[in-house]
Amino acid sequence: MQRKRPTGRIAYVDGRYLPHADASVHIEDRGLQFADAVYEVCSVNDGLLLDEAGHIERLERSLRELSIPMPMGRGALMAVMREVMRRNRLKDGLIYLQVTRGAYRRDHAIPEKVRPSLIITARGLDPKTYDKRRADGIAVVTLRDIRWGRCDIKTTGLLPNVLAKTEARKAGAYEAWLVDTEGFVTEGASTNAWIVTAKDVLVTRDLKANILSGVTRKGVLAALSRHGINAIEERAFTMEEATDASEAFITSASGGVIPVVAIDGKPVGSGKPGATTLRIHGLYREMSLAEAKP
Ligand code: PDD
Repeated sequence: MQRKRPTGRIAYVDGRYLPHADASVHIEDRGLQFADAVYEVCSVNDGLLLDEAGHIERLERSLRELSIPMPMGRGALMAVMREVMRRNRLKDGLIYLQVTRGAYRRDHAIPEKVRPSLIITARGLDPKTYDKRRADGIAVVTLRDIRWGRCDIKTTGLLPNVLAKTEARKAGAYEAWLVDTEGFVTEGASTNAWIVTAKDVLVTRDLKANILSGVTRKGVLAALSRHGINAIEERAFTMEEATDASEAFITSASGGVIPVVAIDGKPVGSGKPGATTLRIHGLYREMSLAEAKP
């Protein structure tokens, strides 16, 4: 058991703001027992919550798909997220939000009367860590996608992702790109996957595939469209196409746009972060910050 020491961090659990170390849910919470829970990770930059509407819309969708009621209205949820930011003096970092179906006597079938639990935590992160990752680029390894068939729902059932990420780290890579039974890349263990072809066409997996509809992916597509960049194909691509690409990158709320410089030990393009990738990062960052301003 982790030793509890006050860190000054404050977490929100079901109506209460508590010291992070003391915040907990019931041992029969279905999130713990069955991963019967959904979550969101939102980036906070310069005190601004990025892509908030996108995250809340996706949360509502995930909950709807699992028939878990929203624990509170959208406006109240936005207010609690801000209060968690304020109480943690969060300027740069992440807001993590989880809704579990709630606590009930253990039984696989979904109980009729159970109240969902809402957990919100904050974590400060030094933006320099991401800036360095962006400047250096990251390596990815490809692994078989062994996840369930509803990866469009952002559930906490992440064991295959956890195993993939761990295998990647053991191989000296930052991320794992998951490959389906037909040999096409689906997405990363916790990011969406993109390549830039030799003809400067951006390719990312379409949402008909078994992947998560990334909020950052959507934001990047919106930023590109706003700047009149239409050479985009939402389609499947193979590992070979990825290693032959001139650039590659990943997107997620936690890191934004991060260049991929090696796949399975082979350099992508020049083996350095590509100009198109870094430009896309700039366009996305500029748009998301502007939209987050009150
Ligand atoms: N991961 N694909 C998967 C499987 C993910 O878990 C995530 C997010 C993404 C990117 O989605 P978004 O742009 O909305 O963050 C794609 C979060 C950051 C996580 O699990 O920590």
